[in-house]
Amino acid sequence: MSICFAPMEGITGRLFRSAYEEVFPHTVDKYFAPFIASGVTKGVAGKDLKELSKENNKGFFLVPQLLTNDNRDFANTAKTLQGLGYDEINLNLGCPSKTVVSKRRGSGMLTDTEKLDAFLEEAFSFCDQNGIKLSLKTRLGMKEEEEFVRLLSIYDRYPAHELIIHLRLCTDYYKLPLRPKWFDYAVQNSKLKLVYNGDIKSRREMEEIQKAYPDADVMIGRGFLMRPWMLEESVSGTSGEVLGREIPEAFRKFWQFHDLLYQVYKKEMPGERAVLFKLKELWFYMAESFDTTSQERGRQNKKAMKAIKKSQHLTDYEGAISILRHMG
Ligand SMILES: Cc1cc2nc3c(=O)[nH]c(=O)nc-3n(C[C@H](O)[C@H](O)[C@H](O)COP(=O)(O)O)c2cc1C
Repeated sequence: MSICFAPMEGITGRLFRSAYEEVFPHTVDKYFAPFIASGVTKGVAGKDLKELSKENNKGFFLVPQLLTNDNRDFANTAKTLQGLGYDEINLNLGCPSKTVVSKRRGSGMLTDTEKLDAFLEEAFSFCDQNGIKLSLKTRLGMKEEEEFVRLLSIYDRYPAHELIIHLRLCTDYYKLPLRPKWFDYAVQNSKLKLVYNGDIKSRREMEEIQKAYPDADVMIGRGFLMRPWMLEESVSGTSGEVLGREIPEAFRKFWQFHDLLYQVYKKEMPGERAVLFKLKELWFYMAESFDTTSQERGRQNKKAMKAIKKSQHLTDYEGAISILRHMG
């Protein structure tokens, strides 16, 4: 069973991936890069080429992701990626953002199934001719979970390298409850290699999925942001679902990862505002893992998160995180 790191636009870029791999080597079998917003005329942007160059993604397996509904754009971008050294790529059929869906990309492609089918026909034919493996990352549908029956029957007609299923509808966005029964449906009705995605937030939860679906792979996104250490062998017990000094190895690894990321962002990003923006976004998830079981810890936690959010300069930020670093 493989473990995949989910693509998360704005978060899991090359600096993040390299830092994660350095602190948690070989935890993840495959990283998926956030989508490339390519276009027929504009091609692939210089910043995306930098994000995806092999030079900037050393020591781990990376799969780039396309977000397009245009076969010419798909072919150009796939060719560019092949030129960078990638023979496996992924197509985004799940992004629920309004700007993406309104252009009928991402999960916006799930409504017109005839168009989707025609797009896939040409895309898979292109990949076949060019020796490229194409995987799909989908949601269950746009508004109704029954849409998945038709979608799966379409996907199953193609030789997708794997089918990653985020077990939500487009309209569920990221928060509404997962619809896991549809993974059973997929297992029973698909011949494709399947990847379970959605709400895996601890080693215990991952092991439950593994047990239930021994032939499937798993993809983890926000769980790795909340608890980057969650699959560490050296962390005892239930993988330390809360972060505190009681689990010293998790606590140490968490700060090692944070500090490395902080150093790299400071070195590579243009100015402290950009660094703070990135870190604040990450703390939205990381805050989840801190122990709030006692009133005192809960209070300190809140105080630190407020200070992180308010920080305007790196010195403010360093002051704010020191509250958490020394929480015991
Ligand atoms: C901030 C953010 C950015 C995301 N960006 C992408 C993306 O670029 N491509 C994609 O296929 N999914 C993207 N996703 C969806 C995740 O890959 C994943 O499918 C989703 O978060 C559910 O998995 P999880 O519960 O393990 O996080 C994003 C999710 C979040 C929260």
